[in-house]
Amino acid sequence: MSARNKTIIISNRLPVKITEQNGEYILRPSEGGLATGLGSVYKDGNNIWIGWPGIEVPPERQKEVTRKLAGLNLIPVFLTNEEINLYYEGFSNEVLWPVFHYLVTYANFDQTYWDFYQLVNDKFSEVVIQHIKDGDTIWVQDYQLLLLPCRIRTERPGVTIGFFQHIPFPSYEIFRLIPWREELIKGMLGADLLGFHTFDDVRHFLSAVSRLSSSKMDDNVIIYKNRHIVVEAFPMGIDYDKFEGLTQHAKVARYATAFKESQKDLKIILTIDRLDYSKGIIQRLQALELLLQLHPKYIEQAVLYMIVVPSRDTVPQYRELRDRIDQLVGNINSRFRTMNWVPVHYFYKSFSVEFLSALYSSSDICLVTPMRDGMNLVSKEYVASRTNNDGVLILSEMAGASKELNDALIVNPNNIGEIMRAIVQAIDMPLEEQTARMSSMRHIVKKFNINLWVKNFMDKLLEVKQLQQSMLTKYVAQSIKDQISKAYVATNDRYIFLDYDGTLVGFQGDIDKASPDQELYDIIARLSDDPANRVIIISGRRYETLEKWFGHLNLDMIAEHGAWQKQLNEEWKSLPLLTDKWKQDVKTVLDTYTDRTPGSFVEEKSYSLVWHYRKVEKGLGELRASEIVNHLRMVIADKGLQMMDGNKVIEFKNIEVNKGKAALNWLHNNNPDFILALGDDHTDEDIFKALPEDAYTIKVGSNISSARYYLRDYKEVRELLKTLTTYQEKTQANQERIQNRSAARRAEKPSLLRRIYRALTAR
Ligand code: UDP
Ligand code: G6P
Repeated sequence: MSARNKTIIISNRLPVKITEQNGEYILRPSEGGLATGLGSVYKDGNNIWIGWPGIEVPPERQKEVTRKLAGLNLIPVFLTNEEINLYYEGFSNEVLWPVFHYLVTYANFDQTYWDFYQLVNDKFSEVVIQHIKDGDTIWVQDYQLLLLPCRIRTERPGVTIGFFQHIPFPSYEIFRLIPWREELIKGMLGADLLGFHTFDDVRHFLSAVSRLSSSKMDDNVIIYKNRHIVVEAFPMGIDYDKFEGLTQHAKVARYATAFKESQKDLKIILTIDRLDYSKGIIQRLQALELLLQLHPKYIEQAVLYMIVVPSRDTVPQYRELRDRIDQLVGNINSRFRTMNWVPVHYFYKSFSVEFLSALYSSSDICLVTPMRDGMNLVSKEYVASRTNNDGVLILSEMAGASKELNDALIVNPNNIGEIMRAIVQAIDMPLEEQTARMSSMRHIVKKFNINLWVKNFMDKLLEVKQLQQSMLTKYVAQSIKDQISKAYVATNDRYIFLDYDGTLVGFQGDIDKASPDQELYDIIARLSDDPANRVIIISGRRYETLEKWFGHLNLDMIAEHGAWQKQLNEEWKSLPLLTDKWKQDVKTVLDTYTDRTPGSFVEEKSYSLVWHYRKVEKGLGELRASEIVNHLRMVIADKGLQMMDGNKVIEFKNIEVNKGKAALNWLHNNNPDFILALGDDHTDEDIFKALPEDAYTIKVGSNISSARYYLRDYKEVRELLKTLTTYQEKTQANQERIQNRSAARRAEKPSLLRRIYRALTAR
C-alpha cells in the first residue's frame, strides 16, 4: 500500500470509553477484541477509526473531544440523544438485532426508526467523505451501518470498501420481513468484500441478494452494477496470547486462588454475557433448575457463577429480560439453597479483564447457550485461558463459534433437557477426555486468532480490488471504441456476427415478446446496406423466427446455433446428416419436469429441445434444471448429444451443432480484414474461441468470458453499432470536405508552375 493511502475503520462505537469527571472528559481506550485486533491497523501511520464516542457531547464541547480523540487516531461522529434513541436503540437494536437473531416478534418496524437510521448513516458518510481520498481503503463494521458502503460508493466510486457483519445474517424468509430489505441489501452492496462469521451467514446473504437485487452471481461472487463483489466467511478470533498470558499475571493468579479456595470442592460453572435475549440466559437457568430438581445429588456439589454485563437497558425488551432473570435467580436460590450453599451467584455488572481471566482459568465448566450468536468470543476466551488443557466448554450450536469449536459439548439451547444432560456430562467428565477436547480447541483458537482474522480480511480485500481492476481493462471504454471505429473505417471487407437475445434486444420473460423494434431495424439496415459489410445474425432461435424478423434485409443468418444456415439471397439449409430421432425420448422427460414446475415450458426446434425456466420461482428453476441434467446425463452420452446451460434455459442438441463451428464455416475461403462478434450467452463463447485473435470479440452483460472485451447490455451494443456507422459517415464526409476544399483551392489558386508559366506566356 502506498504511503499516501490510508485505511479507515468505521464502526458505530469508537474503541474508547469516555467518562466525564469533574467537568473533564477522560478517555480510556477499550480492551475489546475488535479494538485490539484492529489496533494494528488504525494506530498505524495516518490511518484512522471513525465512530460515535458513546456519549452525547454538547456542541460547545465537541471541539475539545475531537482534539483529544485525534491524539488516538480517532475521529468522532457526534450523535444527539434523539439520534441515539431512534437510530441506535431504535432501528439497530429494535429492528435489525431481533430480526437478525431470529426473534422477529421482538421487532418494532417503526418508520421513524428507519428515517433516523438513514439519517445517521448519512451523517457517518459525511464525516467519512471529509477524511477520505481516492486510493484509501475503508472497512465498515457491523449492522448499525448497513447503508454506509453504498453511501460512500456513491460519493467516491473508486475507493476500496470492505464490510464485516459481526452478528448473524438470517435466512431470506426472516430477512424479507423487514419493510426496507431492498434498501439494506443495496446499502451493503456498496462494498467490494462482505465478510460474515460463518458460511451459513454467507449463504443466507447470497440468497437474499439473489432475490432482492438485480445482480448476477457466480458462486460467492456477485456482479452488481459492473463491480465484482465477493462474499466470504471470516470467523473472528480473539487475542489468544493476551488471554493465555493473563493467567500468568500475579494479580490474576491471586484472584484465581482466592476464588477457588472460597468454592472449596464445588464444581464451578461459569457464564459470562452481555444482557441480551439472544444469549439464552433464561434457558440455562431453567436447565440448572431442572438439574437440581432431577439430580438432587448435585446440591452443594456445583455452583453457577453468572455474570451479566449491563447493556442496552433503555430498550424495553432488555429491561424485561433483566426483571425475568432477577425473578428466576431468586426462585432457584430460594428453592434450593442450603445454610452453606447458594446455587446461583448472579452479578449484573462488568468486571476487569484480570478478574474475568481469573474466573475463566478457575472455572470447571463454561456454559455458553445463546439462542443465536454471530460468533461468541466468551467461549474462545475460556478456551484460551485453560493453560492446563482442562475444563469443559458447553456450547450452543446456534453460536458461530460452534462451527470451529466442535470438541465442545454442543447443545441445542431450546432443549433444556439436553443442556442439563451436558452439565451432568461435564461435571463427570474424566480429565483425559477434558484434555483431549480442550487441547484440540486451544490449537484452533490459537491459530485462528484476531490478527489472522484481520490479515485474512485485508488480504482478500486487496485481492478483490485487483480482480476488479483486471476485469476493468476489458470494458469497451471510449479508447477501445475509438480503436474499433478506426479499424472499421480503414477496412473494406468486414464480417459482423451478431447474436440476438440479450445482445441486440433485452432479456424478456416471454420469448415471443423479444421481437426487433424500429431502432434495431434501423441499426441493422445501416450496417447491412454498406457493401463492405457482411452482417450475420447468429442465434439459437428457430430459422422460421429469424426469417420472419429479418428475411427482408441484406443479411446472412445462422439459426438454432448453427443447425440452419442461410447465405444472402439463398435458401435456408440444415447441416447435413443431422438426426432428430432422439427428441421424443428427451421431450418425454422434459415434459414431466414442466408438469411439476409452474412457469416452465419446452421449446422444440428442428435439432434441439430447450427447457425454459425464466418465469419459474427463483431457486426452484435452478433446482429443477440440475435435476434434469442428472436425469438425462446417461441419455446425453448414449445419443451423442450436448447439453448447454444457458441464461435460464437448458438446451439439448446434436453435438455437431455449435455456433463456433458455424462462424468458422462462414470464414471458410474468406479472409476478411475486420471481424466483429457480439454475444451474451455460453453458446457465444464458442464463437469467441473460434475466431482469429485479431477479431473484435465482445461479450455482453458480463466480463467473465473468452471475448477480448465486454459491454454491459444490449443498449451499449446498439450504441457501439451506431457509433461505427456514424464514425464512418463522418470520416467520409470529412474526406469529401477535404477533397472538395483542396479542389476548390486548386481552382482558386494556380500552382507555382502555372503562375510562372502564365507570367512567361503573358509577356
Ligand atoms: N466482557 C467484558 N467485560 C465483562 C464481561 C465480558 O469486556 O465484564 C467481554 C468479553 O471478554 C467478550 C465480550 O465482552 O470479549 C463479549 O463478546 P461476545 O462475542 O461473547 O458477545 P457480544 O457482546 O459481542 O454479543
Ligand atoms: C455485539 C455487536 C457489536 C456491539 C456489541 C456491544 O457484539 O456485534 O456491534 O458493539 O454487541 O453492543 P453495544 O450496543 O453496547 O455497542
